[in-house]
Amino acid sequence: MIKVLVVGKGGREHAIITALQQSPSETKIYSFPGSDAIFEIAEEVDAQDLPSLINFMKAKEIDLCVAGEESYLVKDNGLANECEKAGIPCWGPQKQSAQLEASKEFAKQFMVRHEIPTGGYASVDDVDAAVEAIGGKYPTVLKFDGLAAGKGVAVCLDEASAMEFIDEVLGQRKFGEGRLLVEEFLAGPEISIFASVVDDQYQILAPARDYKRISDADEGPNTGGMGAVSSLEMFEGDLRRQIEETIVKPTVEGLIKDGLPYRGFLYFGLILTDEGPKILEYNCRFGDPEAQAVLPMIKGDFAKYVFEGAKGNLQPDLIEFSDGWSVCLVSASAGYPASSRSGDTISGIGELDGAVIYHAGTRLDGEGRFETAGGRVYAIVAQGATLQSAVAQVYEQSDKVSFSGMQRRSDIGVLHF
Ligand code: GLY
Repeated sequence: MIKVLVVGKGGREHAIITALQQSPSETKIYSFPGSDAIFEIAEEVDAQDLPSLINFMKAKEIDLCVAGEESYLVKDNGLANECEKAGIPCWGPQKQSAQLEASKEFAKQFMVRHEIPTGGYASVDDVDAAVEAIGGKYPTVLKFDGLAAGKGVAVCLDEASAMEFIDEVLGQRKFGEGRLLVEEFLAGPEISIFASVVDDQYQILAPARDYKRISDADEGPNTGGMGAVSSLEMFEGDLRRQIEETIVKPTVEGLIKDGLPYRGFLYFGLILTDEGPKILEYNCRFGDPEAQAVLPMIKGDFAKYVFEGAKGNLQPDLIEFSDGWSVCLVSASAGYPASSRSGDTISGIGELDGAVIYHAGTRLDGEGRFETAGGRVYAIVAQGATLQSAVAQVYEQSDKVSFSGMQRRSDIGVLHF
């Protein structure tokens, strides 16, 4: 039996834990900090911080730690570093390698050093320098140089929106201390690529696209992600080979050259420009909500795959991806993304048939019913042989589940690029 502890509490972690639990290998799964929905399939952990989490893992003789979310990878001495000291295999990179996500400047320097295609940039720490770096050229991309739960990036079409974001980052310090990156705007469709990286080995997984804006037609403010689609068919023509040769392989070689240990999922946020794929960002974990679309398509022994990978044996044959398409539709609470309303009762979950639900911002009320407790509330995910059939199924099923003030997009999967 594999005793696994998964770190995180959102929809991605609910999907990871579900995939581990459904694996043929026998597992006992623990979740930290977890959620009421996750605790229906995983045990709660008695810990408050990284040191007590490590102590818990030692006491319970945990075989495998899986970093669902990124924050603990760079907290204190780093989750994976502490796991290594305790002799616990960890699926998630060490702190020094997780800087690829935690510091946008570190990531840009890495890309430039290893000649991985990306847009030009400048790193600044005051308003005047930011204005000078933009040089009156719009659109421009502004990024807070630190972890901001997917919200520290703004594509600014004009000076007014740029000044507003610069003030949030450098004036109000909305995301905490950190520099601002001014990046070249790259035009083209976006694609999320995931690889399992184990030292100098890697396996590219099914690609996905996420939908970041709150409203249809990619309008309105950015969110943590309102939906996602995934299919191996998104690797049209020569795209997979191109991405592997120009982005994935040089990244893994760069990690080795720089002495950055890496075992875990590595996420490449790419833009397909006229000059070929270019990288926007790395994330040192699976994407959310992409994980909710990708993971239900995995067949094979995912638990053993991750366990072996964390021990240094990447075994690609342990998993494969279903043909067809997977579509994930997120429902968000009233007020999201500016705020979020809690306490709205969710009805109809038990009526889902041919779709799965992954909880993100929910909790149980006093009567044992799920209610809203966060911005993105849950994701409903369905598969189909074609994109159209998967989209039809996900919307048909999602219509059964609702709560007051629910917001969701009506065009997830309609436009996949
Ligand atoms: N899908 C975007 C993210 O996980 O950051």
